[in-house]
Amino acid sequence: MTAEASASMAPDGRVHDREAWLARFEAVRRESLRLAQPLSAEDQQIQSMPDVSPTKWHLAHVTWFFETFLLQPHLAGYAPFDPAFGYLFNSYYEQVGERHPRPQRGLLSRPALGQVLAYRGHVDAAMAQLIAEAPEPAWPALAPLVELGLHHEQQHQELILMDIKHVFWTNPLLPAYAPAPREAPGRAAPQEWLDFDGGLTQVGHDGPQFAFDNEGPRHKVWIEPYRLASRLSTCGEYLEFIDDGGYRRPELWLSDGWAAVGREGWTCPLYWLQGEAGREIFTLAGVKPLDPAEPVSHLSYYEADAFARWSGARLPTEAEWEAASSAAPACGNLGGQRRLHPAPAEGRGLRQMIGDLWEWTQSPYAAYPRYRAPDGAVGEYNGKFMSGQMVLRGGCAATPEGHIRPTYRNFFPPAARWAFSGVRLAADA
Ligand SMILES: [Fe+2]
Repeated sequence: MTAEASASMAPDGRVHDREAWLARFEAVRRESLRLAQPLSAEDQQIQSMPDVSPTKWHLAHVTWFFETFLLQPHLAGYAPFDPAFGYLFNSYYEQVGERHPRPQRGLLSRPALGQVLAYRGHVDAAMAQLIAEAPEPAWPALAPLVELGLHHEQQHQELILMDIKHVFWTNPLLPAYAPAPREAPGRAAPQEWLDFDGGLTQVGHDGPQFAFDNEGPRHKVWIEPYRLASRLSTCGEYLEFIDDGGYRRPELWLSDGWAAVGREGWTCPLYWLQGEAGREIFTLAGVKPLDPAEPVSHLSYYEADAFARWSGARLPTEAEWEAASSAAPACGNLGGQRRLHPAPAEGRGLRQMIGDLWEWTQSPYAAYPRYRAPDGAVGEYNGKFMSGQMVLRGGCAATPEGHIRPTYRNFFPPAARWAFSGVRLAADA
């Protein structure tokens, strides 16, 4: 995020309305605690693999972000809650200093959860003071950092859910995070192919609303005529791929993907189980029978790509996805609906572009033309990860409301499966 891009942003469009900023700050901070509320202190301690962080660490790290980038440099007389926390809760900011190794976050039994919650309270009080009392001439430069901190915390709210799902998956009791309404197996709308003209178009963020730096600059792209599936691919469709030997046929796979199948022993998506009565799926609401109508989730890029090839199709590029998104209804199944699991598509036309599942694209995560990372440590937020990862679009059923837009570029390594990731097919027209 560049200061220029966001200096005019405020929750209500008025950068100087401090009360609106404080209300927004408090609402986002409260939401993190609400997400942690069903979890015991022991739950919040576990790190089930190096990619996963404990809930307690997430709660502290998002707090560290405000302390490091707002309070220490900009609130006169601010006293850090605990000077040791800078080392413990810095994630990856080299310019801020040394940090605790990521794979060992689950070893931090101290500080205890109560201390982390006290840390949050300390920082919240100081942030309220900064938001209320920062001198008027300084505020336009601080507001974009507050905005970035809030969107950062919302990213971690989704990570809390992603990560606790994996934590509970590694527990033989397969506990539920929170109950969800028991639904009868649904029916997915039939998959249609929708045609798009292509041509010269523009993609990327522009305008006064918040966006991360990696979403711009807006720029021209040429797109050949193409087709998109009207909805996400379903578990039933993916089962056909499995039953047709999908995981045993190297001709369907990228070389790195085939190596991952062999190395990891993949035979189905992450979180699928074989129950006595048939296939089951582990969700944040616990284990339930696999519903063939619901979107297939927790696929790696390699699996999404192999499935698309088996289907006689391909994955969309991110430019195709973004250009088509204007034709879609704005809102799908997001975190605010508390379902925390994708739902079968209803209706006709382009569905599920926003919400339900992040959609793998075939686009490598790289800088847009004329992109420049912001100066200073916040410039490490996105830019330095632009190698070896693929772009996903559209948000998912765990994404906070207000934290997704058509230009939003998520990214993961191609073998990652613990994100809420799915597949929408594309084809050349
Ligand atoms: Fe972070």
